[in-house]
Amino acid sequence: MGYLQGEKPISISKLLSMHAEGEKITMLTAYDSTMSALLNRCGVEAILIGDSLGNVIQGHSSTTHVTVEHVVYHTACVAHANTRAFLIADLPFASYGDPIQALDSAAELMRAGADMVKLEGGGEWQVEVIRYLVERSVPVCGHLGLLPQSVHVLGGYKVQGKSKDAASLMLEQALACEEAGAQILVLEAIPSSLGKNITESLSIPTIGIGAGPDCSGQVLVLQDMLGISPGKPPKFVKNFMNGHTSVEDAVKAYVREVKSCKFPEPEHGFAG
Ligand code: KIV
Repeated sequence: MGYLQGEKPISISKLLSMHAEGEKITMLTAYDSTMSALLNRCGVEAILIGDSLGNVIQGHSSTTHVTVEHVVYHTACVAHANTRAFLIADLPFASYGDPIQALDSAAELMRAGADMVKLEGGGEWQVEVIRYLVERSVPVCGHLGLLPQSVHVLGGYKVQGKSKDAASLMLEQALACEEAGAQILVLEAIPSSLGKNITESLSIPTIGIGAGPDCSGQVLVLQDMLGISPGKPPKFVKNFMNGHTSVEDAVKAYVREVKSCKFPEPEHGFAG
C-alpha cells in the first residue's frame, strides 16, 4: 500500500477533498503510541484522542472526569508515533465554557500535537466558541446527537433526534456549526435518516458513530470495535475481531468495510 511508504500526512484539505470525491473517511480513537502506530500502518485517515479515555483508559462510567491535562498527555502519546493520520483531540467537559477558556484549552491540545479540536453541542454558546476558535486559527470539529459530556443532564446514553422537532433543531445546529467555521462534524447515536439528511444539507464532512451509512465517514471507539470493552456494546458497534486473528487485521477490515460501505449495516443503525 502506497501510504505506508512515506506518503504525505493527511491534512484537513485532504479530508475535504476525499469528501468532495465521495470517498469515505475512516476514523478510530486511540490514546497511546502503540495503537497510533498500528492505526497508521492500517491506513486509518483520522485518529480521535477522545475523552472516551475516561471510560476505556480510566475506567469511569462517564467522560466528565477527564481534564485538559489528561487529553494533552494522551494526545502527546499518540502524536509521538503518528506518521500520517490527522489528529483530532477532544476538549473535555467544562474546558470550553467561554471563548477565552476554550482558546486556552485548545492551545494546550494543539501544542501536544492535535491538528484539530472537537467540542460537543450546537447551542448558541458553543457556536460562539467555534467561531472564536476558528477566527484564531484553531481548526474545530463539532459533535452533535448524543453528547456524552451531557449524560447527567440527558439522564443516560440515549438515541437523540428522534422526534420531528428534535431532528429539525439538530439540523439547524449542524448548519450553525458549519457557518461558524467547523470543518468536520461528528454525529453520534441518531436515526440513520437524520444522519443522511444532515450530511446532504452540509458541505463539510460528517463522521458518524451510530448515525447510519450515509455519513461522509465513520468513527468507533477502538476498544469497542476490538470487542474488549467491558459490558454490552452499543448497538452501533461491530466487533471486527470476529473472523480475524490479529488487531491489525481487524483494523484493516474496518478500513475496508467503511470504504466499501459494508459497515455500518442496517443492524448498527437507529430508526427515526
Ligand atoms: O470521545 C470519543 O471517543 C468520541 C467518539 C464517541 C466520537 O467523542
